[in-house]
Amino acid sequence: MKIRVVLAIAILATATASVFFLGSEAQELKQDRNTERISGSAGDVLEDDPVGKLKVYVYDLPSRFNTKLVEDDPRCLTHMFATEIFVHRSLLSSAVRTLNPDEADWFYVPVYTTCDLTSSGHPMPFDSPRMMRAAILHIASRWPYWNRTEGADHFFVTPHDFGACFHFKEERAIARGILPLLRRATLVQTFGQRSHACLQDGSITAPPYAPPERMEARLLPPRTPRSIFAYFRGLFYDTGNDPEGGYYARGARASVWENFKSSPVFDVSTEHTATYYEDMQRAVFCLCPLGWAPWSPRLVEAVVFGCVPVVIADDIVLPFADAIPWEEIGVFVAEEDVPRLDSILTSIPVEEVLRKQRLLASPAMKRAVMFPQPSQPGDAFHQILNGLARKLPHGDCVFLRPGQTVLNWTAGPARDLKPW
Ligand SMILES: *[C@@H]1O[C@H](CO)[C@@H](O)[C@H](O)[C@H]1NC(C)=O
Ligand SMILES: *[C@@H]1O[C@H](CO)[C@@H](O)[C@H](O)[C@H]1NC(C)=O
Repeated sequence: MKIRVVLAIAILATATASVFFLGSEAQELKQDRNTERISGSAGDVLEDDPVGKLKVYVYDLPSRFNTKLVEDDPRCLTHMFATEIFVHRSLLSSAVRTLNPDEADWFYVPVYTTCDLTSSGHPMPFDSPRMMRAAILHIASRWPYWNRTEGADHFFVTPHDFGACFHFKEERAIARGILPLLRRATLVQTFGQRSHACLQDGSITAPPYAPPERMEARLLPPRTPRSIFAYFRGLFYDTGNDPEGGYYARGARASVWENFKSSPVFDVSTEHTATYYEDMQRAVFCLCPLGWAPWSPRLVEAVVFGCVPVVIADDIVLPFADAIPWEEIGVFVAEEDVPRLDSILTSIPVEEVLRKQRLLASPAMKRAVMFPQPSQPGDAFHQILNGLARKLPHGDCVFLRPGQTVLNWTAGPARDLKPW
């Protein structure tokens, strides 16, 4: 086993295919997830141009809902939740923006709910429902468009751990559910898990934010050998929030640690290393296990750094699964199979790994998961617009009859109903 693994590393490191690599073990990874891709040739990102397919009206909200928060704490510009800021900025100068709300297909409400940070830089979601509610009251009382549909032609970016459930712990997020006033709107969110209370039909799953300039500044020469077989940095246990263990990451991260902490081919630790980005470029496989939620920036970083993402998060809904061929570029391992992760990864034929690496090297693939400023065709912002365009034309159920109401303005915990 060890000899085979060392061989695997040597071969993958020099990126030269070899016929004597690995015997044929059962191929465990054939899973039919994310096969809902719309079209496009095998392995490529779906190329689509949203311009001309939709018109978006951007509400002008008081700055306390958005830009003032960034002025007060610019750390939100670079954290993984910054999608909400860059979607707003990109829309303001986008060709799909219209200044005439009467011709809009979509209305965008620019609220930054993850920019209220603790001293250590984590978003405090506890006031987000009040803030969201205040923004909706603001637009509903000043423009006629919200009441016409109660939000069914409106979209919001809700990039928090569990989206519009606004709590970082899963059981609390589920207990809260999606904020009642957002139940007809389209939510653009990083959280994606099938059949989950915090993902409603019609949502668009987008990648978390990873700062493009910061990553580009650290790129190694493209032929740098990949001498690390499997790489991971991050928490294995969250003893503060999950003292008994087993709830956090449903035990999958703990299992990575317990099984592979001393494996010679796994480079896994909690250590914050200054060479994190470089290490990912020296690794063949980058582990992307769930944490509290199934998603993390590792998925984006793995794509950008050409490291094959190993997704360990059952039922994850991947970003832009209709446009990005995740099943071709990544490896999917069931949470319960983590103890066999070493044999699963070493049994993947080298040709298959090389093919994934070639697909990951495509600039279009990297662009599709990033939010460059200014925005570029094919980037994550354009993928969001494509998702919105594909939902057009709106069905009849979007528009309410005069006087008809569906949403309940007074539903939800008392604290959420207080003015913001
Ligand atoms: C929309 O409905 C709300 C709640 O019924 C109401 O308070 C508000 O005045 C309405 N807005 C407009 C512009 O008529
Ligand atoms: C709205 O929700 C509140 C709180 O759950 C409930 O008391 C009230 O009856 C609901 N109103 C309607 C019209 O369903």
